[in-house]
Amino acid sequence: MVNLAFLADTRDPQHEGQPSGSETAPAIATRLGHDAASKPHPASLREAAPVPRIAIHAFCDSAELVGVVEAAAADRLMARAHLSLHRGGLGKAEGLYRKAPCPNLLIVESRSSAPAFLAELDRLAEVCDPGTRLLVIGHVNEVGFYRELLRRGVSEYLLAPISPPQLIAAVSRLYGDGVAAKLGKTYAFIGVKGGVGSSTIAHNVGWSIARRFQSAVTLVDMDLPFGTAGLNLNLEEAQGLREVLDKPDRVDEVFLERLLVQRGDHFNVLTAPATLDTPFDVEELGFEPVLELARAGTPHLVLDLPHLWTSWVRRTLVTADEIVITAVPDLANLRNAKNLVAFLRQARPHDAPPRLVLNQVGVERRPEIRPAAFAKALGIEPLVCIPFVPRVFGTAGNNGKMVGEVSARQGIAKTFAKIAVTMAGKPEPRRRSLLGSLLGRKSHDTGKR
Ligand SMILES: Nc1ncnc2c1ncn2[C@@H]1O[C@H](COP(=O)(O)OP(=O)(O)O)[C@@H](O)[C@H]1O
Ligand SMILES: [Mg+2]
Repeated sequence: MVNLAFLADTRDPQHEGQPSGSETAPAIATRLGHDAASKPHPASLREAAPVPRIAIHAFCDSAELVGVVEAAAADRLMARAHLSLHRGGLGKAEGLYRKAPCPNLLIVESRSSAPAFLAELDRLAEVCDPGTRLLVIGHVNEVGFYRELLRRGVSEYLLAPISPPQLIAAVSRLYGDGVAAKLGKTYAFIGVKGGVGSSTIAHNVGWSIARRFQSAVTLVDMDLPFGTAGLNLNLEEAQGLREVLDKPDRVDEVFLERLLVQRGDHFNVLTAPATLDTPFDVEELGFEPVLELARAGTPHLVLDLPHLWTSWVRRTLVTADEIVITAVPDLANLRNAKNLVAFLRQARPHDAPPRLVLNQVGVERRPEIRPAAFAKALGIEPLVCIPFVPRVFGTAGNNGKMVGEVSARQGIAKTFAKIAVTMAGKPEPRRRSLLGSLLGRKSHDTGKR
């Protein structure tokens, strides 16, 4: 339930006859119950590839690891894997696999000392299937012990305590050569209200990624009845996503290739049908096959989501690598953005918060919440603020062009490029000495931090 008392504090002070100034910012923040942004996890851990469809059994010897495994299992990067959790450590695992087949990956914890630990592992090895990989979590921090683990073919050793992102990154590393590692990155764009410019931004950013990085981008217009990608990019009529929904069994690479409309080098678009002859009721996993296929074939997948709150929209958001939320600086936008950010924090606890774009800022005579106050209330600094410039956006829209293709105002095109680089650019390589690299590698392998 939203407490509407905060309304009073976000009205334009001039309209309310109150003194203007920055004092509204803390007020909004307090009324909206702004909590400090949770500390995002290191980017390196979050850059792990999604774990493919493998079966994982985890045997936890401690209550702490039960919590860690449960949190890891709920993470978006593990959405495809099947993880089952067992209480009890190595001994319990050995007992089970005397009778049952092993999964692809076994995660086993032991709190035993080194000799007892190795003896337990030897007993487990007798009953393990040859193809099963073993990720071991223990409390022993000795190089000799680590060597013994390697000699026994243990795939990875993590020194307790570990965090959920560390566990996910370790699992991901083990399967890093698989299909998942080759998947493209997904960027989901959603407006916190209709008409805030989310689609325009998604299209321009997609175009900018393709141009700047000379790397393939697929834009998927997921606003089935009203999508504007075809219009904004001046594309010939294409049924795009309708065929995907009509013929789910036929969705394969060739089929998808036929549906994509090319818009210049490196930029392909899967358009929305944008017709109203039939209603579009999509199930939660309705887009999953086509999105997975598109990700396998392109390094960058831009998803232009409609302003809706259905199970498939939620699923698409939660599983995306990056999320860009667009808002205009008014009260309804602030309320909606706050709810969306809170939902995403809870659904993606190990990820950084979404990126915020404040759009259509500075409409003449429109009372607005100042960007600083908006950001403070939300607990997220905008990645960019885009001014309201109807001439530029109108000209681009009416001519089926991107802003970068028509605008003399390089500022706005640069803004889109900034979003593109922030999301799709490679992180700056960290400078390290050779010794530092070797030490880093070792601690990474052994799980020591
Ligand atoms: N910064 C801006 N200044 C002026 N007009 C804008 C701006 N951003 C978007 N628009 C216009 O707003 C309209 C709605 O944009 P759209 O991207 O379709 O919104 P959404 O996808 O959020 O519903 C479009 O006509 C677009 O050209
Ligand atoms: Mg839209």
